[in-house]
Amino acid sequence: MDVVFVEDYEAMSRRAAEIVAGQIRQKPDSVLGLATGSTPLGLYHLLCRWYAAGRLDFSAVTTFNLDEYIGLSPTHPQSYHAFMQKHLFSKVNLCPVRCFLPDGMAGDVLAEAGRYDARIEAAGGIDLQVLGIGRNGHIGFNEPDDHFAVRTHRAYLSDDTIKANARFFPRLADVPREAISVGMGAIMKAQRVVLLASGPDKAEAVHRAVCGVVTPRVPASILQLHRAATVLVDADAAALVPEKWRHAGRIHIG
Ligand code: PGA
Repeated sequence: MDVVFVEDYEAMSRRAAEIVAGQIRQKPDSVLGLATGSTPLGLYHLLCRWYAAGRLDFSAVTTFNLDEYIGLSPTHPQSYHAFMQKHLFSKVNLCPVRCFLPDGMAGDVLAEAGRYDARIEAAGGIDLQVLGIGRNGHIGFNEPDDHFAVRTHRAYLSDDTIKANARFFPRLADVPREAISVGMGAIMKAQRVVLLASGPDKAEAVHRAVCGVVTPRVPASILQLHRAATVLVDADAAALVPEKWRHAGRIHIG
């Protein structure tokens, strides 16, 4: 795991966009794993700008999002389908038939989860997985638990996540309690992973994920075992990482 310290949100977003753009230029038919939430907005904004400037071509790229709320249709404004449309898909030349998210309206969640894993496998797996991190250390909707979920699954949102996501909904009661989330199998099999963390409310999660033991109680800690994971942290999110780890600006943990 590489931990890369950057100054602020802008620097984190730029560094992430350079990694994603480099991946697409090197392999135009890349399979990208994508995340939602506030953290990757700067990354998506830059990718859209670079596309508009003729510097990037998404025409052969395939994308798989990490998750979708159960019970929200793709047209629901708070669905992750709608989020991706708004912030990326509608602004670049991604081919709609190659942009995948779990179907939150599927009658049979288990079957949908199996189909989603099969689609990822049929695409050859993820080349580059983009991740945010929850304040409780979750990645995707892999919440703290007593085991790591390997496959795509029905996820029950923790109270902390429901509270964190309430800012996007009119009322706390409107936040869905369940989602379909990719599991750790697809994430750990990705050729490369980039986790983004910004702001003081992520400092504890970053510290536990990067410096603590590998445990399903801190789902992101599993990335310590990934062969090519980069954690991009800004100064606020890195606040609890010990001083001695910071001198190089880039450290190897394992
Ligand atoms: P955020 O969410 O980017 O909105 O902070 C991250 C996450 O919960 O994974």
